[in-house]
Amino acid sequence: KLPRTILGIETSCDETGAAVVADGRRVLSSVVSSQVALHSPYGGVVPELASRKHIEHILPVVRQALAEAGLKTGDIDAVAATQGPGLVGALLVGFSFAKAFAYAANVPMVGVNHLNGHLASLFLTDDPPAIPFVALLASGGHTAIYHVTGPVTSTLMGQTRDDAAGEAYDKVAKMMGLGYPGGAVIDNLAAQGDPAKYAFTRPYLDKAAFDFSFSGIKTAARRFIQEAGDALAPESPHIAAGFQEAVADVLCYKLVHAAKVKKCGHMALVGGVAANRRIGEKLRHAAKQEGLVVHIPPPAWCGDNAAMIGAAGFFQLAAGAEPVDLSADVYSRV
Ligand code: KG4
Ligand code: ZN
Repeated sequence: KLPRTILGIETSCDETGAAVVADGRRVLSSVVSSQVALHSPYGGVVPELASRKHIEHILPVVRQALAEAGLKTGDIDAVAATQGPGLVGALLVGFSFAKAFAYAANVPMVGVNHLNGHLASLFLTDDPPAIPFVALLASGGHTAIYHVTGPVTSTLMGQTRDDAAGEAYDKVAKMMGLGYPGGAVIDNLAAQGDPAKYAFTRPYLDKAAFDFSFSGIKTAARRFIQEAGDALAPESPHIAAGFQEAVADVLCYKLVHAAKVKKCGHMALVGGVAANRRIGEKLRHAAKQEGLVVHIPPPAWCGDNAAMIGAAGFFQLAAGAEPVDLSADVYSRV
């Protein structure tokens, strides 16, 4: 019998997440405890602090997820936890907690790849993309395009050779003294700027291929920031807008091109950067022009969360995946 009510657990980076998901589609509850305030003074995630915060938060967050779903431990049919990639110390907290829960509740446990989790966030919407489709995952740690041929099957078409898109946002924000993380801050600042004032080049690389490079855009931003010098404050909206427009153009071009090459009518954008308003706007515009359907999950499912992990776990079990052995280990890299 297929486990239907899944407890999802996510602790790969700086969010402690727990969620209850029914049939891989219906989110009964989703709790995310963010550590942003803890890490922001350091300008990035401090791995050891992240692990310790996960230890403190994991049980209350799981309890809250169960309570909000109106369920008890005994109502859970299976546990799904992020196994990697991510910070090892952070992953170990959620993964070990999930093992203990599964052991005590005598239910199966599945290990979920965090990137597959982001892809599964698309199935949490009322109107998921029609399979096969192409998907761009743009987050703080990854930027890659996939050809998705089933709920748990995808092939990698290309990925970044240097920075991830979200990482570039974070670094440019840091250079402008806007704090960490920088995605949402630049998103807002750019809305008041002129994207054409600063000439950012677009690194398409091979236009026929699906690799990315964001280090050049980041370097250009650094140069414009240095040139502005003391006059940075009035220029920063324009620099932010120019940077964002260049990133958005490259992401949109590559995703639309991938849909054409794979002859898919549907394309999707997932990961933290998918919350970006300008990128979403450009993608919807491009989709209209090209006669494609674009899917972007609501912001709550773009950033790291456990509902997407629960969904991915459900589809893995439905596809016949074996539960993990309770001696299974986590992995830091893909
Ligand atoms: O998926 P996510 O929560 O964590 C990872 O798996 O990395 O993505 C976090 C990234 C950060 O780099 C953050 O700056 C970026 O997503 N981000 C955004 C926006 N909101 C978050 N980037 C651009 N625009 C946004 N509105
Ligand atoms: Zn993520």
